[in-house]
Amino acid sequence: SSGKINIAIDGPAGAGKSTIARMVAGRLSYVYVDTGAMYRAATWYCQSLGVEPEEVEQVLQIVKDLVIDLIPIENGQQVLVNGQEVTEQIRSLAVNAKVSRYAQIEGLRSRLVSLQRQMALRKGVVMDGRDIGTTVLPDAEVKVYMTATVEERAKRRYKEMKEQSAISLEQLAADIAERDRLDQEREISPLRQADDARLLDTTHMCIEEVVETIVSYCKIYGMESKA
Ligand code: CDP
Ligand code: CDP
Repeated sequence: SSGKINIAIDGPAGAGKSTIARMVAGRLSYVYVDTGAMYRAATWYCQSLGVEPEEVEQVLQIVKDLVIDLIPIENGQQVLVNGQEVTEQIRSLAVNAKVSRYAQIEGLRSRLVSLQRQMALRKGVVMDGRDIGTTVLPDAEVKVYMTATVEERAKRRYKEMKEQSAISLEQLAADIAERDRLDQEREISPLRQADDARLLDTTHMCIEEVVETIVSYCKIYGMESKA
C-alpha cells in the first residue's frame, strides 16, 4: 500500500470545511477535493442553460456527460465545467439559492459520487462535503463532522463577502439555515454525522487549532506532517 489514508470532512455551510480541508491536505501533501464545488458547478451549468431543478429529466441529460475539473492553484482552486472557467460564478447568490435543490436529484448525486470515488481510489485525499463519511467514502480512515453555531457560521461567511451591501448578516444566516435544512432533510444521503465520525465544534476554535486537531487524528496512521 501507499501508506496513505483518506480523510472525510462533512458538516453544514460555513463550518470551515474547505478552509481546513485544504490546509490539512497541504500539511500532509495530500490532494484536496471540494465536492461542494462540484455541486455548485453542476448547478451553475444547469442555470446557464435555463434548466430548473424541477426539470429532472433535462438536468439528468446535462449531467450525463458533464466534465468537472478542480485544478489546484496557489491559495485555492480553479473550477472548470465542460472546459469553461467558473471559479467565481459558482459562489454567486443565484447558485447559493438553488444548489441544495439540484443536489436533491438522485441521478445528479450518483454521477458526482462516482466521480468523487474515482478521485479517492489511490488514497491520499482530503475530501469535504455533506455525505463523504456516510456515502462517498464510508471506509475513510479519518472522518470528521465539523460544526459551529449558525450565528458563527453566518458571521464567517459575511466577513469574506466582497459585496456586503448585497445581503444582510441576518439574511445570510437565514439562507444558511434554509440550506442546512434542505441538506439534512433530503431523502438521498442527507447531511448527518457518520456513526464513526468525530464531532468537532469549531465555534470557539481558530483555524490553526482545527487543523492541528485533525492532523493529530491522522498520527496513528503514521502520517509524516510537513509542519
Ligand atoms: O461552502 P458551503 O458550505 O456553502 O457549501 P458547499 O460545500 O460549497 O456545498 C454547496 C451545496 O452543495 C450544499 O449546500 C449541498 O446542498 C450540496 N452538497 C451536497 O449535497 N453534497 C456534498 N457532498 C457537497 C455539497
Ligand atoms: O467550507 P465551509 O462552508 O464549511 O467553510 P469555509 O468556507 O471553509 O469557511 C468559512 C469562513 O470561515 C472562511 O472565511 C474561514 O476563513 C472562516 N473560518 C474561521 O474563521 N474559523 C474557523 N475555525 C474556520 C473557518
